[in-house]
Amino acid sequence: MKFVILSDLHIVPPGETSHGVDTGARARRAAAELAANHADAAFCVLLGDLADHGAPEAYAVLRDALAPLHMPVHFMLGNHDNRTNLLAAFPEAAHAGDGFVQSVRDTELGRFIFLDSHEPGHVNGLLCPTRLAWLQARLDEVAGQPTYVFVHHPPFNVGNFMDDIKLTAPGLAAMLKAHGNVQHLFSGHTHRHSSGIWNGIPFANVGAVHYNCGLQLGGIDDSIQYRYDTLGYSSVVLLDAEQMIVHPNEYISPGTPLDPAMFPTGPLKAIIADGGRVPGHH
Ligand SMILES: [Fe+2]
Repeated sequence: MKFVILSDLHIVPPGETSHGVDTGARARRAAAELAANHADAAFCVLLGDLADHGAPEAYAVLRDALAPLHMPVHFMLGNHDNRTNLLAAFPEAAHAGDGFVQSVRDTELGRFIFLDSHEPGHVNGLLCPTRLAWLQARLDEVAGQPTYVFVHHPPFNVGNFMDDIKLTAPGLAAMLKAHGNVQHLFSGHTHRHSSGIWNGIPFANVGAVHYNCGLQLGGIDDSIQYRYDTLGYSSVVLLDAEQMIVHPNEYISPGTPLDPAMFPTGPLKAIIADGGRVPGHH
């Protein structure tokens, strides 16, 4: 089975940019590449931060971008999203009936669980008791069977400033381990692909469709410069009974020149404080 992931699209309304990038155009390009080369995927996961400021106009751009993708889509929220606006734009987005956009997909290879870690007004993520209770119930239904869990905010540290805005979810590790067969955890949010093991659970933190960050370890202080890897990535995952592999997918053609001048330079702290704007861009 193949499935595909688009994470951290950060779409802005037409005519605007984010970090100097026309993120609507990037989303269209990423989706078009998946439609052209991976139309055989069983489903697509939108792993959160779909809209940069949660604007209705941005979700309309997303709807257009997804038009060529003729496969089921699982919508997930990130910190940048707006739950009300997303559900208005995509009433088909599955939700649990308790106000949260959480869903399940059952396949011959196991259960896939998609969580909602969006907490309005917060950059970090949260799984509150209501959301954790829903997760516990979904895990209990398939105890011991292969299960894959998706959440926008990683519950683990990646070793840079993102560690301050990761997921808060009391008891999550113990809950997943008690299930007995959580095969893999997928997250986004960090704009940088990484993989590893958290409390015995293998994870892939997938890269962003928007810009990605160069390796910049450590916290934020006045000396740290923002480093961009200008390419955007989608992810293509191949899964069978024996193995799974996660491919970062460079949907922007290698060799396509990107103008470094379009990206902000300078201290990371100042760029974040300025919302990632570049002089001369919106
Ligand atoms: Fe995020």
